[in-house]
Amino acid sequence: MNLKPETLAQIEAVIPKYPVARSAVLPLLHFVQADQGYVSGEAMEWIAEKLQIEPINVYELVTFYPFFKEKPGARRLVRVCRTLPCALAGSYKICDTLQKELGCTLGNTSEDGEVQIEFAECLAGCGTGPVIMVDDDFYENVDETKAIAIAAEIKGETVE
Ligand code: FES
Repeated sequence: MNLKPETLAQIEAVIPKYPVARSAVLPLLHFVQADQGYVSGEAMEWIAEKLQIEPINVYELVTFYPFFKEKPGARRLVRVCRTLPCALAGSYKICDTLQKELGCTLGNTSEDGEVQIEFAECLAGCGTGPVIMVDDDFYENVDETKAIAIAAEIKGETVE
């Protein structure tokens, strides 16, 4: 596995914090994905060996949690909460606007490979929906105007 030295240091530091090494599997998956952008089959096997568990135990988690990706994705990931409070506040309409503004359909990557839009389940901002995330940035109360501004920012345009 070709991980950055800082990622390897994070991994070595986190494992002893758990009473049982196998319990560190989720943090390790997060570190690897942050380093590589996704969790490859090779990475899953590496983590399994590191924690002395079966590769299937790692694979199950990667496929269970929508956050983890098995393939490299777009450079920017837009996630729109579709859980009831956000849906009632208009998240589906916001998702339509983002797709139109970014030239990208839901679940797919834009033609230039820059942006990907996905639905997400509750992003823990239910009282201030619609909520979206762009990479690690959190946006609340996203209305039509804000969605257009966020899309412009993603495209690298100046927002007035
Ligand atoms: S329902 Fe959208 S953040 Fe919880």
